[in-house]
This record gives sequence, C-alpha cells and structure tokens, in this order.
Amino acid sequence: MFETLKPQPADKILALMQMFREDPRDNKIDLGVGVYKNAEGLTPVMRAIKAAEHKLWEEQTSKSYVGLAGDPAYGDAMIKLILGDAVARDNIAAAATPGGTGAVRQAFEMIKMANPSAKVHVSDPTWPNHVSILQYVGIETVTYRYFDRETRGVNFDGMIEDLKLAAKGDVVLLHGCCHNPTGANLNETQWQDVIALMNERGLIPMIDIAYQGFGDGLEEDALGVRLVAAGCPEVLIAASCSKNFGIYRERTGLLMAVAQDKGLQVVNQGTLAFLNRQNYSFPPDHGARLVTMILNDDALRADWMAELEEVRLGMLGLRTDLANELQRLSGSDRFGFLAQHRGMFSLLGTSPELVEKMRLDNGIYMVSDSRMNIAGLNTATIPVLAKAIIDAGV
Ligand code: LMR
Repeated sequence: MFETLKPQPADKILALMQMFREDPRDNKIDLGVGVYKNAEGLTPVMRAIKAAEHKLWEEQTSKSYVGLAGDPAYGDAMIKLILGDAVARDNIAAAATPGGTGAVRQAFEMIKMANPSAKVHVSDPTWPNHVSILQYVGIETVTYRYFDRETRGVNFDGMIEDLKLAAKGDVVLLHGCCHNPTGANLNETQWQDVIALMNERGLIPMIDIAYQGFGDGLEEDALGVRLVAAGCPEVLIAASCSKNFGIYRERTGLLMAVAQDKGLQVVNQGTLAFLNRQNYSFPPDHGARLVTMILNDDALRADWMAELEEVRLGMLGLRTDLANELQRLSGSDRFGFLAQHRGMFSLLGTSPELVEKMRLDNGIYMVSDSRMNIAGLNTATIPVLAKAIIDAGV
C-alpha cells in the first residue's frame, strides 16, 4: 500500500524553519515562521499563562474528557473577546479546535457539508495553508485581487471587482486583522463596503482571525469581524489563541458559526460537535483552559493584556525603525508602507530571486514570497536587514 504514496510538496514556511536551523552562520536572521520573538530572539511563555498553569496544576483534579465542543466556558469567553456584544450569544454555535488551523479545517468541512458546490474565494495572496487545505478537502478555490504590488497596500477596487464575480452561495475568506502574509488591512469603510457587497450578492463570509491584539489593539483588531458578524446573515469565524496567548504548541482555537436566524444555532452546534468527533473526537483542553482562566480572572486578564500590549507596541516600534532606516539608506519614502502595515508580517513585495539572494549573501530568512516576520527583528538586526534590502536592489 505505502508504495503508492507520492512525496508531498513541502510547506514553504515550515521548510524555511528547517533551513534556518541547519544554517551554521552565527549572524543569520530568522524572519520566517509566524512566531513572536522578543529582543533576545526568544518566544517566552506569557506571565499570565505561567500563573494560570501554576493554578491549574494546584487545582485540577481530573483529566477526564470534557465535551465534543470543548468547555462551554471557553467558547463563552472567546466569543466575548472576539465579538464583544456584536451578536447575541444564542445566535452563535462554537467549538474548540486544535489551533486556528483546526478551526479553518473544520470550517471548510462545514462548508463542504452544507454546500458541496460552493467555491471559496481567497485573497491573492493568502496564508498558503488556506489553499492547501481547501485543495485537500476538495473545495474549488478562486483568488480575488488584494495586495497592490505598487503601493503595498490593499487593491480595494480590484478586490471589489473580483468579488462581484463570485456566485451566490460562495464563501469569501477574509483575514480579521493583521493580514497574513501582506500586513495590509481593510479600513472600516472598506469593511462596510465588503459587507454590503456580500449581502447584495448572497456571499457567505468566513473570517480567519489569528492575530487579534497584534495590530491596533484587542478591540480595534476585532472591528472587522464584529461588523461582519452583526451585518451578514451567516458567518464562519476561525480564531486562534496561538499568537496572542503565545501557546502555539498547545493547539488552541475556536470555530464559530454565527447565524442571524436563531433557529439554526442548534443544528450548527451539533454539526460542529459532529465534525470534531469525526476528525479527532475531543479537542485539546489544556490551552483552552488556560485561556478561559485568564479571560475570567480580572488580575490575570489585566496582566495578559498588558503583556500583549507590550508585544504589539514592540512590533510597531520595529516597523517604524525599519522604515526609517530604509528611508535613510534609500533617500526615498518607498518603504513607508512597512510602518503602515499591521501585525506580525509585512510583504516586502520583491521577487523570490532577491529573497534567495538575501538568504545566501546575508543569512536573512524570509518566506520566498518576501513575507517578513517583523517580530524576528531587533535593534541590532534592523540596520543589517535594511542594508541587505538596499544592496539586493529591492
Ligand atoms: C505562519 O503563517 O507562519 C504561522 O501561521 C505558522 C504556520 O503554521 O504557518
């Protein structure tokens, strides 16, 4: 049987992680995988997570199963964090998933179950694993224009033109904030326009929100998802706690199905539980429990928010410093977009050849599409990267 298997294509982000590990150069710079790193290049356990783990260790008396959708208290706390008061709780079905990727996968499965002929429209570019999972699940994928390679902002006219071609019942995948890989995001008016278009054409929004709190702030980053949840009849939302709680390996995510018709909630909830049962049965609990403890405890929550805000402001400072250094070296404002982008990533907008040149010449690791993890920088490496970008002729 096994001899029939073919080698699978490597995921370009994960392959880069491996290449970085194997590079013997001391001065190499990792701007690859989307993991937050502090100025020392470490990915620390957040203080509130440590404190919650300590408390859990002292207080937890059983590791028995919880429920197919995870602990309802986790769903409640996350819904509040992401949606605030945008939608009544009984319009929402929610299930814990293994990470944000698990939520994305389950959302695609739910789409396929509900409407096997629906296409999913994804931004050009999007997180490569969106496309890979869609193909694997057997859903036709269509791209809509998103990134303007000249301005490095959103090509909003192009996006709207392309979405006008989507058929009724198709799904439009949007990034809630901190677009991965570009760093270019919709503003409030643009969100409103997208909502109006989706409603006019009968399109179903799906939102992937994996970086809430990394852009303009916890509340600000939730603006788009809240507008969509309140403004569209049906919405799927895949959320991750990997980044904003720093619990990557704990695999902590949530899938929400929001329907303005409350009558759909029971079947939606049952569908999410069924899909969990088919794919992995009970979702992981440890990370979800820590998140619930933090969100429901005033002191832990305040400390988590303070640390997350430090992380966010640190990345914003790195963006400004990099843009300034590039302005100094190039004598032009053409890299100003780096300070405008939000979240962990910016797409530099250069060719794979120049990305490869910077890797070979300078030990700089960015994804081949020129996505840089801004959190991989520090005050010492910013001038090195800026010089390499200019020397490469970007
Ligand atoms: C990324 O985009 O680098 C992260 O979301 C990690 C991953 O799984 O690709």
